[in-house]
Amino acid sequence: MSELAGKVVVVTGASQGIGRALVALLAERGAKVVLAARDAGALDGAAAACRARGAEALAVPTDISEPEACRALVAAAVDRFGAIDALVLDAGIDMIARFDEVTDLGIFERLMRVNYLGSVYPTYFALPHLKRARGRIVAVSSLSGLTGVPTRTGYAASKHAQFGFFDSLRVELRGTGVSVTMVAPDFVETAIHVRAAGPDGRPHGRTAFGEGKVMSAAACARRIADGMERRKRLLVLSFRGKAGRWVRMAAPGLIDAIAERAIRDAGS
Ligand SMILES: NC(=O)c1ccc[n+]([C@@H]2O[C@H](COP(=O)([O-])OP(=O)(O)OC[C@H]3O[C@@H](n4cnc5c(N)ncnc54)[C@H](OP(=O)(O)O)[C@@H]3O)[C@@H](O)[C@H]2O)c1
Repeated sequence: MSELAGKVVVVTGASQGIGRALVALLAERGAKVVLAARDAGALDGAAAACRARGAEALAVPTDISEPEACRALVAAAVDRFGAIDALVLDAGIDMIARFDEVTDLGIFERLMRVNYLGSVYPTYFALPHLKRARGRIVAVSSLSGLTGVPTRTGYAASKHAQFGFFDSLRVELRGTGVSVTMVAPDFVETAIHVRAAGPDGRPHGRTAFGEGKVMSAAACARRIADGMERRKRLLVLSFRGKAGRWVRMAAPGLIDAIAERAIRDAGS
């Protein structure tokens, strides 16, 4: 029986990609799921898929860059289920543009509002409930939160900010029973790269890699759910990501070259 069976899990970014795959998996493992994202239609579809797996599911259309919307999300979850045992901060947006080619500076603010503040706000409102439940916080960052990546300056900054925030919060939460798991996926096969902001702020519009060449959203979700169950501190989801953490200490220039090649190979 899963550690997550019967637990109330709030997942942001549940309408698409990794978050959508994760709520389906959590439903299979017996969790009660609360799904948040902006697209109400897609969210309803994801919630229906959870119910089809026998789980209770609540869809709450939410723009996580708005503090009041995050307060309402937490209130809706507690109103329906009486508790929050886990909060997964998965919602995120990307950019694909060299800094010297950017023409819309608003990209940088949007990335921070969604990826960074969109993690802080739900955590703030859910924290009293998570403390009561001795629960779990899971923040889906990226390898770009651990190292620099060309064409992703603003994205990497927002993902580094997530690491700084949650690594600090984890220390504050010592003794409360609340665990903090950071997730650093490598490339995952979702449409995030199609939606990513190009230099002018409009969607880049192209997939970054061929199907089957990178981790699937379902495989990524499985790694996250397993790590959540075991309250892991950090999940780095690729070999090059894991090895890179050690190599970087001795040869940071080599990691820069690997990051540059990874982006070139992905065609973005
Ligand atoms: N795919 C990768 O290669 C990769 C690699 C490393 C890390 N990650 C991280 O993994 C997470 C999930 O990415 P993904 O690839 O699954 O992306 P995705 O398929 O584009 O899904 C992103 C999710 O975030 C939601 N979202 C975006 N802006 C939002 C907002 N303002 N308020 C609420 N929800 C919002 C989207 O829903 P709505 O549009 O309906 O709001 C969607 O459900 C992100 O944090 C991403 O940075 C992805």
